[in-house]
Amino acid sequence: MNELIEETRKRRTYAIISHPDAGKTTLTEKLLLYGGAIRLAGSVKARKAQKHAVSDWMEIEKQRGISVTSSVLQFDYNGYRINILDTPGHQDFSEDTYRTLMAADSAVMLIDVAKGVEEQTKKLFYVCKQRGIPVFTFVNKLDRYGKNPFELMEEIENVLGIRAYPMNWPVGVDGDYQGVYNRKLARIELFEGKGNHGSTAMASKAGDVHDPEFKALLGESIHNALCEDIELLDMAGDQFDFAKVKSGELTPMFFGSAMTNFGVQSFLEEFLQLAPEPAPRLSSQGEIKPDGEEFSAFVFKIQANMNPAHRDRLAFIRICSGKFTRGMEVLHVQSGKPIKLAQPQQFLAQERAIIEEAYPGDIIGLFDPGVFGIGDTLCPLGRDFTFQDFPVFPPEQFARVQAKDTMKRKQFVKGMTQLTQEGAVQVFRQPDSAVESFVIGTVGSLQFEVLEYRLKNEYGVTIIMDRLPFGVARWLAGSEADIKAIKSMDSGLLVQDIKDRPVALINNEWSLNWIVERNPNIRFLTVPEDS
Ligand code: G4P
Repeated sequence: MNELIEETRKRRTYAIISHPDAGKTTLTEKLLLYGGAIRLAGSVKARKAQKHAVSDWMEIEKQRGISVTSSVLQFDYNGYRINILDTPGHQDFSEDTYRTLMAADSAVMLIDVAKGVEEQTKKLFYVCKQRGIPVFTFVNKLDRYGKNPFELMEEIENVLGIRAYPMNWPVGVDGDYQGVYNRKLARIELFEGKGNHGSTAMASKAGDVHDPEFKALLGESIHNALCEDIELLDMAGDQFDFAKVKSGELTPMFFGSAMTNFGVQSFLEEFLQLAPEPAPRLSSQGEIKPDGEEFSAFVFKIQANMNPAHRDRLAFIRICSGKFTRGMEVLHVQSGKPIKLAQPQQFLAQERAIIEEAYPGDIIGLFDPGVFGIGDTLCPLGRDFTFQDFPVFPPEQFARVQAKDTMKRKQFVKGMTQLTQEGAVQVFRQPDSAVESFVIGTVGSLQFEVLEYRLKNEYGVTIIMDRLPFGVARWLAGSEADIKAIKSMDSGLLVQDIKDRPVALINNEWSLNWIVERNPNIRFLTVPEDS
């Protein structure tokens, strides 16, 4: 087998999606621990505590070096090379969080056993669903009181519209769990050392479910409950269908506890076997296969000013095909210019390093002289194709911004244009507005802070920002006359996006329904039709 195929098959590139506090940092740390990338768990956590101690952008700026190293983590395990993509949550939640999913081949959905499917998880799940990538579920915090596992399966199906296939099953009654039963191997593993924060890998007990030792250990009632559950799952549950997992219709579901390390290693091993290797990507010239000899990649994230002393911008690219070597020259399709990839950086568990080569599935950071935009394609010189456009993600928070000093108008427009191209915020225009102002939309409030800070620091423009009371944006499809005469928009606002497509900004879902009912000739779309 040639080197490129072999290296590509080893790659597993995935994101962990969850609501804040479900245990993403803890799980990531434990995965790194098993991969030998860190010796003692606790260091990722310590960095996170620093990072979230403040919401002030100045402070976030100071921590940039920290947050960027965790944008992607690479480690080896059992012959696999794993790239975990970080999906920022908390006050860092932004469009970057969604865009990161464009670079992943699969996702691990982390759920708190007591809380079930939460808001942020739902949003991230829908992006995975749209992309049709496999989602694996890890139900965390099993060492604590939690919901009934059948109830969780039902919740996943009702809320997310995906069937769940439990790979293992909690042992215990009334939400008080003592371990898990592995369905494939038909054996039980019980917690040992509950409460040990699991800073080192932990041993577990295993054996046949009918082993009298376990019956004695569990007690009659727990053992009976487990046997009944297993029978029910085998009889009434879904069959394990790998094709459905790959197409995103079925999610393999694991139970465990990241904090106590329980079930983490077996999850990692089964996940790596099932998770897809780098997949072909669609381009303007058809499918680009990862093991094609020609190098190609796309930009999915741009991070500016990571080092304030140097004002650098780093573009994160996902390699789609071919081998990457340091110093290679490629075509940046959107500018039509050749670019030498001189100082590629990769992010290992705790530091960045200059790398010499990389393969499909890998993520690298390139110094960006200001030419890259989100979704841009890099391809071999002499070729000219682009990867599919990135989707537009529906913004949920809005503000009107204008330059405080009208003399700074030019810089203001320049800054807004560049920052929009970089994907910092979405910009809308109000056609009949008298003042030079923009309406901006974001998915998280940090994006407002970033915009304000960067306009001041990079373009010397102080802005006036007024938050707008809208929570929903809908792209409008219909005849021009119908859209112009749209009814019941008294408290909403009609704007245009950067491609001049009409968009309605509306207070909330309730108002939206009201407006939808009164405008039967208009279709209200969550994302533009051609995205
Ligand atoms: P996040 O990145 O998804 O936001 O979550 P994080 O890992 O920071 O975990 C959030 C809280 O949940 C932490 O508690 C963490 O220790 C706890 N946690 C994570 N996994 C488990 C688990 O398997 N079982 C239990 N019982 N708790 C878990 P904290 O009080 O915020 O921090 P700390 O005092 O533990 O450091």
